[in-house]
Amino acid sequence: MKTRIYTKSDLLKQEVKEDIKNTLLQGKNVIFPTETVYGIGGYALSEKGIKGIYQVKGRPSDNPLIMHLENTDDLMKYTKNHQPYVQKLIDAYWPGPMTLVFEMTDVVPSFITGGLSTIGIRIPSNELAQTVLNICKVPICAPSANISGTPSSTLLKHVISDFTDRVDIIIDGGKSEIGLESTVIDVTKETPVILRPGFITKQMVEAVTGPVSMSSNVRDDEIPKAPGMKYKHYAPKGNLTIVSGDDLDVVKYIQKQMTSRSVGVITFDEYKDCFETDYVYSIGSINNDQEVASNLFIALREMEHNLYKNEYIFLFC
Ligand code: TXA
Ligand code: MG
Repeated sequence: MKTRIYTKSDLLKQEVKEDIKNTLLQGKNVIFPTETVYGIGGYALSEKGIKGIYQVKGRPSDNPLIMHLENTDDLMKYTKNHQPYVQKLIDAYWPGPMTLVFEMTDVVPSFITGGLSTIGIRIPSNELAQTVLNICKVPICAPSANISGTPSSTLLKHVISDFTDRVDIIIDGGKSEIGLESTVIDVTKETPVILRPGFITKQMVEAVTGPVSMSSNVRDDEIPKAPGMKYKHYAPKGNLTIVSGDDLDVVKYIQKQMTSRSVGVITFDEYKDCFETDYVYSIGSINNDQEVASNLFIALREMEHNLYKNEYIFLFC
């Protein structure tokens, strides 16, 4: 298979729109940008399209996919029994980086949901993601565009290195604006439960709905409540250690490790000069959450690219 790569301006052409639509409707896969991370898209009602996603990502079959919709028009076709607070969340954060897990209707095929009776829905705000949904007029499942277990892709070059000639189409959206995944919230209960932390914080959800709880980790023998918490995820190829604590202690600890090991350091602008190694990557100012979020996955990818497998990466927190 030879991958076709399209840019934003290509998406204005009628033949490109037709190609994207036909490719998805035929059960093939298209990687497209969203405001959070790139996603590998497949037509939600096509078993072939969904199987293709699991296969190309190497994803365990009990880890369900998120369904992306253009707007809320068809929400009640796929979901039911909404709690009273759901509309408030929708009004506040859709389109945007929030996935809501609902009870599903019979229309939703079980091959999307890994055997669960719930479905995760997201309405993305990214212009190109919206264009793809608008061209196709069908629900599109899209997990993050990375090989299962590894850091998500937030740059075209990362998508290309993982998936060239493994999917039919890749759409170039440049760097992902947010760079962290959507927050996954279970809205089937009286109180919302955050299953996967993401760009929308617990406080942001609480501001709209009142009390919110965080899901606890799941055990291996359970059907995953928040599958992203069961499987290894976001892991670069090197040995990653997260070092947190008082700033000076963290700097000293990492400096000490550097005397006996070959290491890379992911840190903030304010601390990058504390480390003498070729592999220091600053993800932005410690005071700029947005900048830091958008560079985190890029830093993990850059580190694994620059270091050998058995070297250590320290993530300064
Ligand atoms: O920002 C995002 O959400 C990106 C972009 C492409 O939209 N997508 C994404 O999908 O991160 P994925 O598949 O990599 O992560 C979705 C997470 C997984 O941890 C999955 O287990 C969980 O959401 N999930 C999906 N459906 C679920 C359900 N019905 N119940 C519980 N967890 C669910
Ligand atoms: Mg993922």
